[in-house]
Amino acid sequence: MNDPPRPSHPEITVEILGSLLSETFLRDVRHFEETDSTNTQSLQLISSGNAFETPLLIYAETQSAGRGRGANTWWSQSGSLTFSIIVDVQELGISREQQPQLSLLTGLALLHTGQSLIPRGDFAVKWPNDVYLSGKKLAGILTEVPPVSPHHAVIGVGININNSFAEAPAELHDSSISLVDHSGQSLDRLEILKSFLQHIEAQFLTLARGEPVFENWAEHCLLTGKTVTIQIGPNSVSGLCRGIDDSGALLLETDRGMQRMLGGVVAEWSSR
Ligand code: BTN
Repeated sequence: MNDPPRPSHPEITVEILGSLLSETFLRDVRHFEETDSTNTQSLQLISSGNAFETPLLIYAETQSAGRGRGANTWWSQSGSLTFSIIVDVQELGISREQQPQLSLLTGLALLHTGQSLIPRGDFAVKWPNDVYLSGKKLAGILTEVPPVSPHHAVIGVGININNSFAEAPAELHDSSISLVDHSGQSLDRLEILKSFLQHIEAQFLTLARGEPVFENWAEHCLLTGKTVTIQIGPNSVSGLCRGIDDSGALLLETDRGMQRMLGGVVAEWSSR
């Protein structure tokens, strides 16, 4: 009988994950070979009332029901990196007013992680929760705050690393990219996870000190200079994107003047 095909990337085991406890700001890690969604598992843990230490990483080698914002799903292919971090914002010194900035801040940490791997890569953050490379989606972020415990936040991240979209259906092939598609070589997912954790810790510290996090946004924001439509429930607002302000709001120049978008879904965007 033939052996099953070996994955092109080493598995991240619970033992390997444990090494992050001494090398990053994590205080606890949980490992799933397979689960529905690391965000769902995180929310269930918080609601269970069982004790846990934060920041806590919940990692899954594969997810069967990965979730995204709105109606999005996350296709968890083998070779990608899927995890959630539970943080206690009080413990991090981040105020409730600053909490909505967590997704963008995570996007920025992913962008810096990507730039450290591929310095000439064309990385950008698509407000409020995606990271793009060469105009295609590289990573998605789903931040959820459990109503039962609003000082906790669950930051879910999916990054396309060694999972190629070359053979994927046309719609995914045209809209998504992985690091292996870009660079042609498999990358060390643990090193990428570690680098991301170090970058996000630095972002949290900057935010907690009240220093500007969203500097140089014009160059990092995918939507700057594009005509953008934001859907907020049944309403929509369209305008020319002028970047992101200090508090993480998307700036849209509309017929009624400059509007600061604090939430909503990017329904459409196009070059002028
Ligand atoms: C989006 O594209 O709208 C966000 C996708 C977020 C996917 C990640 S994968 C790990 C974590 N668990 C989930 O169910 N979703 C997030």
